[in-house]
Amino acid sequence: MQNIEKNQFGEKQVTPEEKTSLVRGVFDSVADNYDIMNDLMSAGVHRLWKDRFVSTIHPAPGEKCLDVAGGTGDIAFRIHKATQEQADITVFDLNAHMLSVGRDRAIDRGWVNDFEWITGNAEKLPFPDNHFDVYTIAFGLRNVTHIDTALAEAARVLKPGGRFYCLEFSQVQNPFMARAYDAYSRHIIPQIGALIAKDKDSYQYLVESIRKFPKAADLCARMKEAGFNYAKHTFLSGGIVAIHKGIISVK
Ligand SMILES: C[S@@+](CC[C@H](N)C(=O)[O-])C[C@H]1O[C@@H](n2cnc3c(N)ncnc32)[C@H](O)[C@@H]1O
Repeated sequence: MQNIEKNQFGEKQVTPEEKTSLVRGVFDSVADNYDIMNDLMSAGVHRLWKDRFVSTIHPAPGEKCLDVAGGTGDIAFRIHKATQEQADITVFDLNAHMLSVGRDRAIDRGWVNDFEWITGNAEKLPFPDNHFDVYTIAFGLRNVTHIDTALAEAARVLKPGGRFYCLEFSQVQNPFMARAYDAYSRHIIPQIGALIAKDKDSYQYLVESIRKFPKAADLCARMKEAGFNYAKHTFLSGGIVAIHKGIISVK
């Protein structure tokens, strides 16, 4: 297994244990403002990316879906709607606080017992082999300490024929747009974090983690190493984000 990332927390060198615990701390700190901050930082565009993500998945009623790093439920809620509330959805996250915000949001929508909410690490999923039809992870994989271990776990829990989808920040393709986007993320996002969420450091980390995430084609190669028979990416918004799709056809 490759797991080539140096254990960095943003720009700092840390041990794997420190990284996981620091990431947990970041999301503890941002949980209460997470949804409003997403709207502010992306001018609401994260909603369109997530809509497109779920329409790409095309989930069917009755499918068993696992949303890893599911946070406050944005992807799970979209899958629920897309399947006329007929999918069997587990929302899984390292951070109990993010999940509790998600559970409250679900209850506000009248979905009291519609999801299973489980706390844990994407690197060690507490589910049997060949269990799910669909595995999703949105804006989560870049926070995981050992990416290849998480990919191998995804491959393990998916049934033959199972589909994997990762939505993540990627590389802006146009060099002029890349420069503007880089300046925005480097200078403006931490300031919005400081002003609104009173937490510049966490938003600084989130921006730095975007820079460290593998290129889309490299991630697809690593998905194949982890056991996927097919892996392909699609850029959205000129490459600000990418959808990485993997299929396990045979095991
Ligand atoms: C940026 S949020 C994304 C939440 C949600 N998927 C969305 O798109 O709005 C990242 C989430 O990843 C979770 N996370 C980070 N490391 C994780 C890990 N190793 N295993 C599971 N979840 C993790 C965090 O707790 C956080 O809730």
